Amino acid sequence: MAIRLGDVAPDFTAETTEGPISFHEWIGDSWCILFSHPADFTPVCTTELGGFAARKSEFDARNTKIIGLSVDDVDSHNRWKDDIGETQGTPLNFPLIGDETKTVAGLYDMIHPNANDTMTVRSVFIIGPDKKVKLILTYPASTGRNIDEILRVLDSLQLSAKYSVATPVNWTNGKDVIVALSVSDEDAEAKFPKGVTKVKPYLRLTPQPNL
Ligand code: BEZ
Repeated sequence: MAIRLGDVAPDFTAETTEGPISFHEWIGDSWCILFSHPADFTPVCTTELGGFAARKSEFDARNTKIIGLSVDDVDSHNRWKDDIGETQGTPLNFPLIGDETKTVAGLYDMIHPNANDTMTVRSVFIIGPDKKVKLILTYPASTGRNIDEILRVLDSLQLSAKYSVATPVNWTNGKDVIVALSVSDEDAEAKFPKGVTKVKPYLRLTPQPNL
């Protein structure tokens, strides 16, 4: 059955470019981005892996581990690694799962046979420290992902996990946020001392609380 938001992310053991892992144990108390790419030694994937490597410190700053996957084996990943560093400017600095048995791809429904019956699509799962799935994105092989967007959603998820807020359309870090509907007007005054602007009874804005 397909994975849905709020589900516990399937646990697994796998070989990676940084050694064997047991997934939940590897996540530990961090957040996690698990993403698949269609195949090693392909152009869009090479730019994506280099792109994630170049931004790794931004994931670290958010207590978030990143891990990639394709149905190629670890030997193939290790041979491809050099090309990523050479062409994208940053060496691979996070693990890649070798999933030649398609075990993890199956658990996470990363192969969409009507798109391609052997390769994984570009899936993204954000998983919380509670090991629950917080976000699912799926891109076709022909479209490289936008790392700004993945960081933006991560910021939103981490903010909502800590405060009773949601984030509006096109929100980015630093902009006003929405007071959750579950918070009464009286409680909102106490919870958000920077002030609450009531645009409608159901639409109340407040400055980002963690700044
Ligand atoms: C690519 O990364 O460019 C790619 C991978 C698989 C199929 C098509 C494109």
